[in-house]
Amino acid sequence: MRGLRRHLLLLSIVAAFSFAALPTFAAAPLNYLTSHGTKADITLGLTLGVTAISIFVVLVIAALLAFALWRRPGLSHEPGERIAVTGPTGGVSWLWIGTGLSTVVLCGTIIWTVEVLAQVADPPTPPPVTIEVTGHQWWWQVRYLSPDPSRIFTTANEIHIPVGQPVRFRLIGSDVIHSFWVPALSGKTDVIPGQTNELWLEAREPGMYSGQCTEYCGLQHAHMAFLVIADPPEKFKTWWNEQLQSPSPKSASPADVALFNMKCGSCHAVRGTDAAGVLGPDLSHLMQRHMIASGLLPNTPAELARWVSDPQAVKPGSLMQKPELSPQELATIERYLQTLR
Ligand code: CUA
Repeated sequence: MRGLRRHLLLLSIVAAFSFAALPTFAAAPLNYLTSHGTKADITLGLTLGVTAISIFVVLVIAALLAFALWRRPGLSHEPGERIAVTGPTGGVSWLWIGTGLSTVVLCGTIIWTVEVLAQVADPPTPPPVTIEVTGHQWWWQVRYLSPDPSRIFTTANEIHIPVGQPVRFRLIGSDVIHSFWVPALSGKTDVIPGQTNELWLEAREPGMYSGQCTEYCGLQHAHMAFLVIADPPEKFKTWWNEQLQSPSPKSASPADVALFNMKCGSCHAVRGTDAAGVLGPDLSHLMQRHMIASGLLPNTPAELARWVSDPQAVKPGSLMQKPELSPQELATIERYLQTLR
């Protein structure tokens, strides 16, 4: 009985800590218990429902177990005494009741899950925007598609979408399996090399929603984050038009542009210049992004300088090597990057 009391005490402490942690969880960027879109509303109902059923089942089993332990009949015979075999006392019926109830609950949950999957399979209306996202070790390439080739452009790690409209995503893997997840807007979809997976999502109100790769994909898996920024449709349209332009063409000196093209242009692209590399993120309008290195660092001049001067110190294993630059050249590259607005 002392052991049981100790277990109950431990359980109470764990429960108290879990409740105390709830506000922290609610404020966490990847909190999956709040929904900000049509699709997430539907799946959130299932998440909460299945969680409630599971908690209820655990409580019922714990209560029955505690009841059985407390009501254990005392031994009425001496050790070594011979006891006559008696007929069944009705205990077997509990097995049938338990199995029957579990089967009903599990079948109900399966039907509910399949129904929710069917509901979220297709968007309510055809999505006006399709975005192609490619998972790389360890960053996200984002390409905005259009029937008009002159309106297609590429960016990285920050995905703008219009509010109140379903948006279709085509997910492609370039190296290993990744997984695309924006918990406030949609469930996870794997990003698999050699196949295109589709996903749709919709944001109800403007805002910034955190996303994360959720399939272990190597050393920097945890640093493969992204942001989804939902804008009112008009603002989104303006943003798209701005992205098609080359960044502030007049504000960088030709010498700075030439140095960047020579040192960085074989991996990175900047629209409207000779830098057209595709190995790393497209850096056109880099200064409009909130984060760099796939959500690892805030996009401040100091952090950008730290990242460019020694990427391996910040994100070991990343494909970007320490550039061979004199301090003066490094300062020039940093100055040039600040003009990419
Ligand atoms: Cu990509 Cu984990």
